[in-house]
Amino acid sequence: MRLVILNDNAPGEGFINDWGWSVLVEGKNRFLFDADTRGEVLLHNAELLGVPLTNLDFAVLSHWHYDHYGGFPLIGGLNPGIRLYTPPADSFPDWGFNIIPVTGEGELAPGVWTSGVIDFEQAIGVETNSGLVVIVGCSHPGVDRLTRAVLEVSGYEKAHLVIGGFHYPSRKTLDRLAEMTEFIAPAHCSGEEAKAYVRRKYPGKFVAVRTGSVIEL
Ligand SMILES: [Fe+2]
Ligand SMILES: [Fe+2]
Repeated sequence: MRLVILNDNAPGEGFINDWGWSVLVEGKNRFLFDADTRGEVLLHNAELLGVPLTNLDFAVLSHWHYDHYGGFPLIGGLNPGIRLYTPPADSFPDWGFNIIPVTGEGELAPGVWTSGVIDFEQAIGVETNSGLVVIVGCSHPGVDRLTRAVLEVSGYEKAHLVIGGFHYPSRKTLDRLAEMTEFIAPAHCSGEEAKAYVRRKYPGKFVAVRTGSVIEL
């Protein structure tokens, strides 16, 4: 199983990037978690990485912020009719998906769980050979809360890796997170301070991520 970082706030050589977040998950299921700000970014970077954006089993949107859904019109056009799991909204855009609003926690597909919507955001857990991988979007409700919810629904005691935007977390939040996971990959809106803190205080846990990173699990 592997995670392909199609876009992150941190640039990668040869890739284009902007403020946003998008991860292609390739394992038992092949799916997209968040879709960045612009479809062109996803297209360009996916081509460079040699990963097609077609043939997805489903897609997940963490929360209704533009830097996470901007590329979904493109993804829906390339994968018409697939399920897109989103937090609830008053109305849903016609991007070509079968949009499924998620409220409670549960299993989206075998080995893929959602935390359920906490405040207005969901995170997911993915079973891998190395253990449970938790993927978050912006973590507006707190990366520790989202991770705890994913652990509870999946039945895991501890995560192998937590990756995504941590939204400028406090040190206390990062300390709590460190107790819940073997590895930590602060990305997107985590901020340089959070990255530096994890790198310094938990050097054995820190995983660097940028646009174009591929993480094999
Ligand atoms: Fe964000
Ligand atoms: Fe956000």
